[in-house]
Amino acid sequence: MLQANDQLWLDHVIGKITAKMDWVSEKSRHKIPYTTINGTHDDRSIDNPTGTAADGICWWTNGFWGGMMWLMYHETGQEKYKEIANNSEEKLDECFRQYYGLHHDVGFMWLPTSVANYKVTKNPESRKRALHAANLLAGRFNLAGGFIRAWNDLPEGDTRGWAIIDCMFNIPLLYWATEETGDPRFQQIAMKHADTSMEAFVRPDGSVNHIVEFDPFQGGVVKTYGGQGYEEGSSWTRGQTWALYGFMMSYIHTGKEEYLNTAKRIAHYFIANIPDSGIIPIDFRQPKEPAYEDSTAAAIAACGLIEMAKAVGQHEKDLYLNPALKLLKTLDESRSDWTKDSDCILINGSAAYHNPNRHTAIIYGDYYFMEAVFKLKGNDLYLW
Ligand code: GLY
Repeated sequence: MLQANDQLWLDHVIGKITAKMDWVSEKSRHKIPYTTINGTHDDRSIDNPTGTAADGICWWTNGFWGGMMWLMYHETGQEKYKEIANNSEEKLDECFRQYYGLHHDVGFMWLPTSVANYKVTKNPESRKRALHAANLLAGRFNLAGGFIRAWNDLPEGDTRGWAIIDCMFNIPLLYWATEETGDPRFQQIAMKHADTSMEAFVRPDGSVNHIVEFDPFQGGVVKTYGGQGYEEGSSWTRGQTWALYGFMMSYIHTGKEEYLNTAKRIAHYFIANIPDSGIIPIDFRQPKEPAYEDSTAAAIAACGLIEMAKAVGQHEKDLYLNPALKLLKTLDESRSDWTKDSDCILINGSAAYHNPNRHTAIIYGDYYFMEAVFKLKGNDLYLW
């Protein structure tokens, strides 16, 4: 799929990832990192900065470290990566016990851990955990509105009618549950949610809303919110990427052409907005200054674009592959830390436009960067 010079670059990056993960995995083997503070991974299996049920061990990103370990196990065959992945998966059992911290992000948590483990080892305990998580996700489906409820009630108020675009990454857990058990209910819910999202989240120009509030009793859109982006009606870049790659995944699992065409529409909008620098802002519609950026959005977009390049005909491939390469090369050249001074790979991730803690290391930035690079190599372990 790659030109000779791109292949050279790819081999070099894979060498850097392998070297870095070799020592980082040892240093952080007993942790579940979310961010890097003064060069060292935090540990979200213990730390709970907000003191809430959905933080700490139930924090939504706690599957990515296990996912990174499975990617490395697949790449190197080294047992240590499997052991670390197993360890983080077992720690997540506490979330089933606590229950109240869990919401729709069970897909992000158990796809890269238990489903990955089951795909690789056929561990029956992992299958059980993943099916349990899939049932929790299916239980959040709102029949009147045809959507999966995102979060539990927030201090700000009633969220019974709230769905968010990120959920397109959780529903592959439901596709997997149907593929694994033969029971169509899970896929029916996933496709209904994806259909509702096509209607209510994706705008005619290919940009997407972050949060849509539906009437939880009658269905129908009540209101949209800017969520983690700049403002209502803006274009939060990570949300664009959850949608781009998310609809691609729904297409991969179902073969429904409308999902592919929706993913393409979002991709065309995204590609048209990539700045010459290749640095992705937090929101495509934010003010020019301050030039806040989000490296995680670039990494996730690259993954989705590579999947799209694989799915389309030869004459369309470069349309998606070239921007993916541009994003990844920019991350490698100017937004990565390959030294031993820091446990993270990517710098300048941003959780949300209005969160003052911008331009930090975020674990899913590293995860998706690795996933994209291994996808380009052509032998990736597909975790979604
Ligand atoms: N799923 C939440 C986020 O992307 O920050």
